[in-house]
Amino acid sequence: MIFNLDKTTSIANAFLAELRDENIQKDSMRFRKNMERLGEFFAYEISKTLEFQRKETQTPLGLANTAFLTEQPVLATILRAGIPLHQGLLNVFDQAESTFITAYRKNHKNGNFVIQVEYISTPDLTDKVVIMADPMLATGMSMVLCCKELLNRYQIKELHIVSAIASTEGVSHVRANLPKAKLWLGAIDEEMTSKSYIVPGLGDAGDLAYGVKQ
Ligand code: URA
Repeated sequence: MIFNLDKTTSIANAFLAELRDENIQKDSMRFRKNMERLGEFFAYEISKTLEFQRKETQTPLGLANTAFLTEQPVLATILRAGIPLHQGLLNVFDQAESTFITAYRKNHKNGNFVIQVEYISTPDLTDKVVIMADPMLATGMSMVLCCKELLNRYQIKELHIVSAIASTEGVSHVRANLPKAKLWLGAIDEEMTSKSYIVPGLGDAGDLAYGVKQ
């Protein structure tokens, strides 16, 4: 299942346009905020697929019958670029627990690199709905590696993957290696540079949110 925001029209398309805009994205606070807003939008869309149960709520004037999530998802992300998208999801799923993974591209020179997963901080994911957020799904290698690390450790009930921008190659890689995962994407771009940056993409999401890393 792939949800592609680009195929629908809503105000959320404007968040993505601002993330991509080379002038607006220079304002790092606005960049982080737009990524967060995108996370909130995806959380709302994902919530429509989750299980709810109806319960009575006591208002000052009587009883209202309202729908509540049956169980909380766990929100996972890859540091550091994933933080604003994760925060947006957490704003909506405000009772959810979080998983943090550190992974990075090692030997990034000449476009050759391996993905290194270093550290995972997570609650028990057994039988949980996990929503993994990473703003850019470029090769899809780090996403697949991180998800597989979690899937090897835990019997996860359902896996959702959220990205602001994916490449066609990244989508294929994820679909081939994580066929059961549901994908929630802002847009799917056709090309990548020799250093595996998405074109047109938006640039380096981590650098835009938190400063250019050494
Ligand atoms: N990571 C980014 O931040 N941008 C890309 O285009 C690809 C990976």
